[in-house]
Amino acid sequence: MNTLAIVTGAGSGIGAALSERLVQRGCTVLAIGRRAAPLQALAERHAGQVETLALDVGAADAPARLLAALAGRAPAFVVHNAAVLGPAGPLATLEREAFRQHWETNLLAPLFLTQALLPVLAAGARILHVSSGAAHHALSGWGPYCISKSALHMLYQCWREELRERNILVGSARPGVVDTPMQAEIRALDETAFPDVDAFRKLKENGQLTTPETVARFFAWLLLDADAAQFREHENDIRDAELATRWQGG
Ligand SMILES: NC(=O)c1ccc[n+]([C@@H]2O[C@H](COP(=O)([O-])OP(=O)(O)OC[C@H]3O[C@@H](n4cnc5c(N)ncnc54)[C@H](OP(=O)(O)O)[C@@H]3O)[C@@H](O)[C@H]2O)c1
Repeated sequence: MNTLAIVTGAGSGIGAALSERLVQRGCTVLAIGRRAAPLQALAERHAGQVETLALDVGAADAPARLLAALAGRAPAFVVHNAAVLGPAGPLATLEREAFRQHWETNLLAPLFLTQALLPVLAAGARILHVSSGAAHHALSGWGPYCISKSALHMLYQCWREELRERNILVGSARPGVVDTPMQAEIRALDETAFPDVDAFRKLKENGQLTTPETVARFFAWLLLDADAAQFREHENDIRDAELATRWQGG
């Protein structure tokens, strides 16, 4: 059975926990991120089950470098998890170059990495896009992130339809509010950049953040256990109580 999983943003947060979970579930993980050190640490904990690729997913040569690392192998699972929050702050002062970099990471990377993989993907392969509440609700100060996650949600739906005939399953999932470095970055923003910052600080103070390990269980369930319709037809939300009865304990 093919168990090769590509996870972008695997060096920290949700991507690192998901990589660990997929290894526990018997997968081999190709772990991708810009910083080599955290990927290497993951690989050392799981010798033979984690390969690493230090890569800026938004770079123009990222698709070619990914294909070179695969050396003809077909991934069974692709998780577009790498993303950045910033630049945070009002759109009124957004700089074009900063937005371009954000867009390349959060949207162009998943688009063109999937495109590059098309020749090697086999029927039954699953591609998961990591979404956010910000894809569906505008937050003042998070303009670039809301825009890119909203576009990612449509990208998921477009790929889903285009790849339906090949039975390549394209899905999207929301992880909730998760205790990761991205949340630490959010809490460190000032009210000028992000007026709602206090609500996020309170979530942390009150112990209301979801752990990356919990999200990893949910995402691994979607990839390995959920049926095709569940995986593909609608965005899956970790806060869906009915769904939780099926993946918790999985
Ligand atoms: N935390 C939350 O509450 C929350 C809520 C909803 C959605 N999400 C989504 O969950 C996903 C994971 O985020 P997280 O919370 O786990 O935050 P995180 O720890 O900051 O993870 C993001 C990862 O992406 C990598 N990355 C960023 N830019 C990259 C690039 N250009 N090329 C390659 N890798 C890159 C980072 O590593 P390097 O810096 O080493 O590249 C990092 O490991 C993101 O898609 C995020 O939007 C998070």
